[in-house]
Amino acid sequence: MSKAKIGIIVGSTRIGRFAEYPAKWVAELAGKRGDIEVEILDLIDYPMHFFGEERTTTAQNETAERWKKKLREFDGFVVIVAEYNHGPTAVLKNAIDLGDFIQKPVAFVGYGGVGGARAIEQLRLIFVEMGSASVKTGVHIAYPEYLTVIKGEKTLGDYAHLNEAATSQLDQLVWWANALKTARAA
Ligand SMILES: Cc1cc2nc3c(=O)[nH]c(=O)nc-3n(C[C@H](O)[C@H](O)[C@H](O)COP(=O)(O)O)c2cc1C
Repeated sequence: MSKAKIGIIVGSTRIGRFAEYPAKWVAELAGKRGDIEVEILDLIDYPMHFFGEERTTTAQNETAERWKKKLREFDGFVVIVAEYNHGPTAVLKNAIDLGDFIQKPVAFVGYGGVGGARAIEQLRLIFVEMGSASVKTGVHIAYPEYLTVIKGEKTLGDYAHLNEAATSQLDQLVWWANALKTARAA
């Protein structure tokens, strides 16, 4: 079986965002495996209009098309989830509305007061509507771990339970990615 092509979607574009730490950590874990070809998809690189917006520039439209086309290169996704007011960020929700995830698996890595759990649960419902398969194991980076990382005292890779959760999540994601790739081709 060829390697599963996995895109890591960075769900926050905020200046000084934490999102880059988990994105790089998961990309590193995935890159070390023999069964995944990984790429980071940073929403900063895709400044799109909001879905259905009237005054949309040509550049925004082209970027949205580029985003949708880019997503079609992948067999599955890891979404890096910041929790804003108990939900996903607006920029991520918009990228989902403008995207294409049909019949592909999606895994979630969240952080915040309760490890991004509330935003992730909303995203699981949203991705059902996108025709995607939600991977069971979530990775939840809790506030104490978040703090040590932003203070530079530790890295996410220093936490054995996070490595274990992320490894299990990637195992499940690859299983789904291969199964659904075969099913789509049939
Ligand atoms: C608008 C806003 C709303 C937030 N709401 C929540 C929240 O509901 N739950 C939570 O755990 N953290 C919340 N936070 C704190 C975030 O977890 C923290 O700022 C995190 O770093 C945001 O991700 P980012 O840095 O990648 O953008 C909020 C932060 C912002 C900016």
